[in-house]
Amino acid sequence: MKNKVCLITGGNAGIGKAATIQLAREGAEVIIACRNNKRGVTALEQIKNKTGNEKVKLVVMDLSSRESIVGGCETLRTDGLNHLDVLIHNAADFDISRKTPLLSADGIETVWATNHLGPVLLTELLEPELSLSEQARVITVSSQGLMMHPRLKIKFEDPEFAQGGYRVDKAYYQSKLAQVMYTIWLAEKYHGTPKTANCVRVTNVKIDLERYPSLSAFQKRLYSIKSKFSITPDEMAKVYVWLAMDPQLAKQSGKYYDEKYRLVGGGKWAESPENIRQLIAITQKYLPEIKP
Ligand SMILES: NC(=O)c1ccc[n+]([C@@H]2O[C@H](COP(=O)([O-])OP(=O)(O)OC[C@H]3O[C@@H](n4cnc5c(N)ncnc54)[C@H](OP(=O)(O)O)[C@@H]3O)[C@@H](O)[C@H]2O)c1
Repeated sequence: MKNKVCLITGGNAGIGKAATIQLAREGAEVIIACRNNKRGVTALEQIKNKTGNEKVKLVVMDLSSRESIVGGCETLRTDGLNHLDVLIHNAADFDISRKTPLLSADGIETVWATNHLGPVLLTELLEPELSLSEQARVITVSSQGLMMHPRLKIKFEDPEFAQGGYRVDKAYYQSKLAQVMYTIWLAEKYHGTPKTANCVRVTNVKIDLERYPSLSAFQKRLYSIKSKFSITPDEMAKVYVWLAMDPQLAKQSGKYYDEKYRLVGGGKWAESPENIRQLIAITQKYLPEIKP
């Protein structure tokens, strides 16, 4: 990974931080995109100390905010980013203690904004740098929990639950379904170019519960039971790193992989070209700059 430049969102915690450490150990220049400067600086120091890689950098970026994503990309360019080899959309909003929709600074339901619109906008804005890579890889992140919701569909008419029916888990899984579908669309768009797009299906991974202080005692108990059946962030991060660097994957695109490096399906509904077309059509209403 020497001379490779990688950007990973949410690189200050959990799987994102573990993946940053692994990529840094491989010699890559890794940029962690974090919404909170203090948490980002703390993580940056820890990552540098652990790996001895001084090329790890921080950019402050809140994935729920258009202004912050645009500003973060401008900062990256001012700081000399001229090409990008790997873009990992790891950050996600999944605070299950939330009872009512929370709106972002842009007035958009936060889960939809952070987990779907943010990654799409970031990819679009970084297209020039991705196109300057010899072989760029975009990696999106979805969830194994989707298997518990086999009938889930994107609410094309109301993806922000503005007309009611909000539940944070529904909003979360909808956004993760959108990532599976967006990856297929992006891979098709990249067809015939050296760029690829693949998605990771993250299984149950241990979470630092101190990061979620508003969880109820019951939710904390549920998480601690779940953690007995969970793998570590470090184990899960190996799949991100494999997708980021394995030379044999240079031409693999539009695929979906689980924690055991196995190809998995996204489901008939998510793979339907008409449903993907509709997802991109509603996404374009928020992000008119997206080019087919
Ligand atoms: N853990 C699991 O069991 C599990 C299961 C299925 C899928 N996943 C997926 O795996 C990925 C990583 O999860 P994790 O377990 O590592 O979670 P985590 O430890 O809670 O880390 C989430 C990261 O996302 C960042 N983030 C959240 N909202 C953001 C925003 N608006 N802008 C920028 N960054 C933001 C967080 O930053 P802050 O530190 O500022 O909060 C943190 O760095 C996520 O995409 C998640 O959906 C996880």
